[in-house]
Amino acid sequence: MEKLYEGKAKILYPTDDPEVLLTHFKDDATAFNAQKRGTIQGKGEINCKISTALFQWLESQDIATHFLEQPSPDQMLVRRVKILPLEVVIRNIAAGSLCRQTGLKEGQILSFPLVEFYLKNDELGDPLLTRDRILILELATPEQLEKLQNLALTINQYLQQFFESCQITLVDFKLEFGIDSQGRLLLADEISPDTCRLWDQTETDPQARVLDKDRFRRDLGQVEAAYQQVQQRVLAKLSQGKI
Ligand code: TMP
Ligand code: ASP
Repeated sequence: MEKLYEGKAKILYPTDDPEVLLTHFKDDATAFNAQKRGTIQGKGEINCKISTALFQWLESQDIATHFLEQPSPDQMLVRRVKILPLEVVIRNIAAGSLCRQTGLKEGQILSFPLVEFYLKNDELGDPLLTRDRILILELATPEQLEKLQNLALTINQYLQQFFESCQITLVDFKLEFGIDSQGRLLLADEISPDTCRLWDQTETDPQARVLDKDRFRRDLGQVEAAYQQVQQRVLAKLSQGKI
């Protein structure tokens, strides 16, 4: 089938319905703006299953997403949207670039959830934006920005609650949004151990507790096992139906 778009972790295909796209989740992994490349065996299926579960959970909480259906383990049917060129990062605990750029200690609980916007542009290295930069670049309208900020905080509350019930701490995560043909703002892309920092609450060791792509970024080993662990806990929680 002819590809519409191939990204670092997913391939998009058209379908017979112009409003619907098929997403294929790949096992390919990249980090540091694709300077580091590798494969995480089974990642495509795991991330597709976790994203499906989390989109369905969010939909049940009245969050509009692009998710339609999961026709096979590593494929998702989604509503076609025009992706906003923004990466919306929400942080509950200091880690990653926040620590590198501000000197905050990894693990420090933030006094309120931090919402940040980065420009989705690999050539420029996805720089951190300010509100005025977003408006000058016309990446979003003031109304969209306000809506994105509020949606990001609401989604954070739901996801924190969900992961907490799996004995996982949601440290930080990245969201992408798109606009559909009717002008609706929808949560898009994926929510998975590729796009979240997730710490196992049953482990106290700072390396052993890492259940996300930091295991790949920082060569911590046991990458597949960590992704499987997240999948197992998330799917078990949803099948029990009480979060
Ligand atoms: P950061 O600390 O590297 O800025 O990452 C913050 C969160 O965003 C973390 O959960 C990983 C996620 N993320 C992505 O999903 N894609 C990216 O390209 C980057 C840089 C981070
Ligand atoms: N996804 C980004 C990349 O491949 C960065 C990351 O997740 O660390 O470059």
